[in-house]
Amino acid sequence: MGLTEAKLKYFADFIQKEIGIIYGLQVYFQLEQRLEKIATYLGLASTDEVYAKAVKEGIAGDFKQFLLDIATNNETSFFRDPKVFDAIQNHILPNLKKDFPNAFSYRIWCAAASFGQEPYSIAMLVHEFMKANPGHPRIEILATDIADHALKRCREARYSQLEVQRGLSAIRLVQYFTKDEDGSWSLKPEIRNMVDFRKQNLLDTFQALGSFHLVSCRYVLIYQDTDKKKEIFQRLERTIFPKGHLILGGSESAMGLATDLDQISLTGAIFYQKKS
Ligand SMILES: C[S@@+](CC[C@H](N)C(=O)[O-])C[C@H]1O[C@@H](n2cnc3c(N)ncnc32)[C@H](O)[C@@H]1O
Repeated sequence: MGLTEAKLKYFADFIQKEIGIIYGLQVYFQLEQRLEKIATYLGLASTDEVYAKAVKEGIAGDFKQFLLDIATNNETSFFRDPKVFDAIQNHILPNLKKDFPNAFSYRIWCAAASFGQEPYSIAMLVHEFMKANPGHPRIEILATDIADHALKRCREARYSQLEVQRGLSAIRLVQYFTKDEDGSWSLKPEIRNMVDFRKQNLLDTFQALGSFHLVSCRYVLIYQDTDKKKEIFQRLERTIFPKGHLILGGSESAMGLATDLDQISLTGAIFYQKKS
């Protein structure tokens, strides 16, 4: 038998407090399924036992990390929303030197990296840009996520046939990947080593990360309530250099939530630019 609504709410509230993701009543069945996985992981017989453990001992350590990991939705793909990547390739990268003439290097932050397809797509563009522009100042890429299992996959940089078929051109596949004996594809070190991965909760301070010329924070704010979104936008704004850019997911908007960002269209994709 499944957990009662009140018991599921206990976990939903915990998840919302820790990482902001909202589990509404309509997706409690999904939460229950995810708690079943936790029962297996913890060697418990039922989700009721998971609840009893949580109430008795608190949710901490591996239990907490596993709960937060499975609460996340990691849907992603290479070059997701191609127009965004066209804009990075044709507008953002070629204008870095003009927009920031005094910079010695440039910094890009991918704030919800999931399994790595997004930061590695950016890395491929940066690699191609640097090759075409020898002597251009260095461009660093930082990618972060809250989920340990996602960061592990980012660092492994190995993708299934299905994953590489989603968004990656045949040319880039053969150029940047090697095929493993089990049929999966490993990203070559020349691209893998361009991205630095770290754990970062978007609800925490970004102070240790420094400032960026481009921030990609895509398909993650949809899971937050309006107050949390506002707080995140305020902190995101502070991490972006004046004239720097922010990209959101297709269904997301900063309208009414951010004060220092202007919405602009770059080759048909919506970007936000920090006021100068
Ligand atoms: C749907 S994926 C988006 C991946 C990628 N940005 C894209 O557009 O393809 C959302 C990612 O956000 C991460 N996430 C969710 N809540 C987070 C939080 N509070 N802090 C940091 N990352 C979070 C999840 O672990 C997940 O990998």
